[in-house]
Amino acid sequence: MNRNLKSVGQSVAAVVFIVLVSLVYRVMTMDPSYMPAQASTISTAALTAQIPDGAQDVDMVRRGQYLVRVGDCASCHTMDGGAFLAGGLALNTPFGTIYSTNLTSDVDVGVGRWSADQFYDALHHGKSMSGQNLYPAMPYPYMTQTTRMDSDAIFAFLKTIPAAHVQARSNDLPFPFNVRLLVSGWNAANFKEGEFKPDPSQSEAWNRGSYLVNGLGHCAACHSPKSVTEGDKSGHAFQGGTLDSWTAPDLTGNTRTGLGSWNADDIVEYLSTGRNAHANAGGSMAEVVAFSTSIMTKPDLEAIATYLKALPAGPDVTATAADAGAMKRGAEIYSDACSSCHMADGKGQPRLFPPLPGNAVAQQNDPTGVLHIILAGDRTAPTDVRPSPLAMPSFGWKLTDREIADVSTFIRNSWGNKATSITESQVAKLRKTLQLGTDTAKEPTDTNPPSAPKATTVGASG
Ligand code: HEC
Ligand code: HEC
Ligand code: HEC
Repeated sequence: MNRNLKSVGQSVAAVVFIVLVSLVYRVMTMDPSYMPAQASTISTAALTAQIPDGAQDVDMVRRGQYLVRVGDCASCHTMDGGAFLAGGLALNTPFGTIYSTNLTSDVDVGVGRWSADQFYDALHHGKSMSGQNLYPAMPYPYMTQTTRMDSDAIFAFLKTIPAAHVQARSNDLPFPFNVRLLVSGWNAANFKEGEFKPDPSQSEAWNRGSYLVNGLGHCAACHSPKSVTEGDKSGHAFQGGTLDSWTAPDLTGNTRTGLGSWNADDIVEYLSTGRNAHANAGGSMAEVVAFSTSIMTKPDLEAIATYLKALPAGPDVTATAADAGAMKRGAEIYSDACSSCHMADGKGQPRLFPPLPGNAVAQQNDPTGVLHIILAGDRTAPTDVRPSPLAMPSFGWKLTDREIADVSTFIRNSWGNKATSITESQVAKLRKTLQLGTDTAKEPTDTNPPSAPKATTVGASG
């Protein structure tokens, strides 16, 4: 075959495969079943258990235990009701199912059979023990920044986890999604491997924050917008992303959609307790708070805050003034359905019912998160400091798509808030994705259902 033609053919094939592979990734990360196991069923005990003074490699093991919190490994590697870190959590896609792996010390199926080098290859290069590509559902594109010393510490801790002989189920993915080699195409387009390099022009706290946020913490996996191949969109870091039908808000200095009006203490309080004067942590942030940030040290949370507060403000999206009719109808619905908790002036009761004026979740350019909360309800992450789980009731059964659109438009454009208006079809589309019925006459038996539906959602909204 003509050489040029062959290479053109190869490039075309490569592009097709990148798209196919990224499709798998896209669906996996957006599928509600990607939602890690519910907070109530994984215990944080093993993440916080005191490692006795005399234990082997005690300092290293303690450090590794802490880093497992930072990386939120438990959320994905622990199955609902299963043994700690024994894997098996199913990530459903319309093409098939992928399972997380066993990270316990088991010598047949867990880390007991690995070397520290192989473990480092998984975090650093995205390779399995046998050297095959891992799917980027494992956040190696971020965890690649982990230093060798930290990788070895995590490995040392994992080797102390009681063996649970849970065979990793083989992924149920049909051709071509089962061809791991094709992930190389995705990697070529999206994966920059390399350990964290400190920036000497920045403070120690900023550098520590950068290491935690961009490395093990993989905050950008949710908070950065994605490109067509589902890599992080370059030049738009932390400007907000959407997955699992939730919106992970802008974390830049933008005062309307981002953290511009939060000070560093506000960020620390939110990450450690799940609440502050501005917002409550719900949606897919609830697990991050429960299994990761709420059990991190204060200096590390302060370092994260230092890093986030230094992010330049992302751009504002211009919104045309909301329709007066929609605002009037929305105000009436608000007064009936919402003001009992969020109060007539929207100010709510900070740390119980989040205030809506200036609220970033309410004002994201992508309204998926705010519509999700109103349609399906939501729970605030319970933490040691604030253990009571607060719930926002679901309104999907009570309000029509038109009414939810109007009340959303109203809260997005009142009390100084400004954001695009919501259409009825946006609500209808998300209602369908969340598999909520349209029967507004029937009250659900549980008015506060779990925030994510259990069934697989195909082609979730973008
Ligand atoms: C967002 C979910 C998620 C998080 C968070 C996560 N993982 Fe994973 N991990 C996965 C999935 C899914 C796989 C399987 C990927 C595959 O089959 O290609 C995996 C695979 C792995 C593997 C490869 C295992 C093998 O047999 O080759 C290792 C090692 C690993 N993870 C370690 C970790 C550690 C350590 C952490 C925390 C620092 C972590 N993971 C956090 C989802 C996650
Ligand atoms: C699995 C996805 C996911 C990951 C990973 C994640 N977040 Fe979030 N985050 C969200 C979602 C979704 C929300 C919105 C929560 C809500 O609607 O109540 C959020 C909210 C927040 C907020 C509050 C924003 C506001 O204006 O109300 C902060 C601050 C935050 N996250 C910081 C972080 C940091 C720091 C990390 C990394 C350590 C991180 N997040 C990792 C999904 C994620
Ligand atoms: C029974 C009390 C209650 C009622 C009634 C209520 N909410 Fe909420 N709302 C809450 C709680 C609690 C939260 C925090 C849940 C979480 O952590 O996501 C919340 C969260 C929110 C948020 C997200 C704010 C953030 O920072 O994450 C928005 C937006 C919101 N409510 C709008 C509404 C609208 C619109 C209505 C009426 C249709 C309404 N709420 C009715 C209690 C209520």
